[in-house]
Amino acid sequence: MSGPLVVLVGPMGVGKSTVGQLLAERLGVTYRDTDDDIVAEQGRTIAEIFVDEGEPVFRAIEKAAVHRALAEHDGVLALGGGAILDADTRALLAGQRVVYLSMDVEEAVKRTGLNAARPLLAVNPRKQWRELMEARRHLYEEVATAVVATDGRMPEEVTEIALDAL
Ligand code: S3P
Repeated sequence: MSGPLVVLVGPMGVGKSTVGQLLAERLGVTYRDTDDDIVAEQGRTIAEIFVDEGEPVFRAIEKAAVHRALAEHDGVLALGGGAILDADTRALLAGQRVVYLSMDVEEAVKRTGLNAARPLLAVNPRKQWRELMEARRHLYEEVATAVVATDGRMPEEVTEIALDAL
């Protein structure tokens, strides 16, 4: 199987970066994050791209970054929370080992509720989370080969469960 060893998907704030780095350490491979790729390539933050250009332009930039990383990277790869909205991206994930890190809405509000750096949660975090989860949960499930519930768990425990599930 070519491409990443493991792809991590799931909502923002679920711990993809932390768990991804721990997983990469345990597997002896490198870690890559498509949000970091986008920031490095664009020379501005994700929030700035959203404000300057709007979400559709961000999604096009994200799609290109995700497809490039899927082709290039052979370690652990974390995708931005909305990357799975794109049907071509979901098709590319078929045949990959994809771990979906999940959390419920209350956990999400607890973890990210006050984080103004996240453009999709700026107005009413609980309502926005509920809508995001309803719109996306089935897409995460569609691409996942394993699901790890992170609610109330520390990243180390989530990593162990993910390793067992691989
Ligand atoms: C987004 C998730 C973010 C980032 C952007 C949009 C989303 O990535 O790409 O703010 O649509 O869920 P993380 O999941 O890495 O925070």
